[in-house]
Amino acid sequence: MLLEVNALDVRYGTTRAVRELDLKVEPGEIVAVLGANGAGKSSLLRSVQGLVRPAGGSIRFEGQSVLGLSAASRVSRGMVLVPEGRQIFTSLTVHENLLMGAYSRRDDVSAEIARIYERFPNLARRRDMFASVLSGGEQQMLAIGRALLARPRLMMLDEPSLGLSPLLVRALFDLIRELNRDGLSMLLVEQNTQMALQCASRAYVLELGRLVMSGPAAEILGDPRIAAAYLGSSERRH
Ligand SMILES: Nc1ncnc2c1ncn2[C@@H]1O[C@H](COP(=O)(O)OP(=O)(O)OP(=O)(O)O)[C@@H](O)[C@H]1O
Ligand SMILES: [Mg+2]
Repeated sequence: MLLEVNALDVRYGTTRAVRELDLKVEPGEIVAVLGANGAGKSSLLRSVQGLVRPAGGSIRFEGQSVLGLSAASRVSRGMVLVPEGRQIFTSLTVHENLLMGAYSRRDDVSAEIARIYERFPNLARRRDMFASVLSGGEQQMLAIGRALLARPRLMMLDEPSLGLSPLLVRALFDLIRELNRDGLSMLLVEQNTQMALQCASRAYVLELGRLVMSGPAAEILGDPRIAAAYLGSSERRH
């Protein structure tokens, strides 16, 4: 098992953001996590990455507990989060942003950076510009490129399609599929239910921190309760 989360609890004061959650990712899988605003999706990813300390439960990566590890050590192990809102460094250049992804590595990353520029020609053209000039889609590509430089074994994406045009959403999901075909396992948080379920093998649906449904993506895609649960979810508070 690549990632195994058991009975995870995340609390902020009296708010129970994640309750007794069991979730796993097997090597090579794309696993989708769905749910409306406030369902606890980001809290799940942030606690797996080590940015939030869970109030209870266990998180195992490749068979070992990572609860005692800092976020940075988890990155070194290959657990890499592309956070909600991308969080690229707008006062650094595109190239400097990519280098930040490799900050914990001592080896030469120039060949990998060259591959990322091949994959994302828009980034190559803007390599010496401030990241603030990038479009939303380009910023998302940069955030993913930066995460790839950390050599992920599990890439966690928190709402990567948020704010992108339909065309860029399609390009993003093509990229997600391509990275997965190359062997990258992913935990994908999305409110774009349709697109996420089309590329995931399995999915978990959260509601107010609780797991309300899980199973093969194709089954969840065809479940009328999902359609009902997501009516009105396009009204984003972001
Ligand atoms: N730092 C925090 N302090 C206090 N409460 C928080 C904090 N972060 C999240 N919460 C609360 O925890 C619950 C889960 O939030 P979380 O951000 O994990 O949900 P989400 O599913 O990612 O939502 P969204 O789709 O809006 O990103 C919400 O009730 C939220 O208000
Ligand atoms: Mg969130």
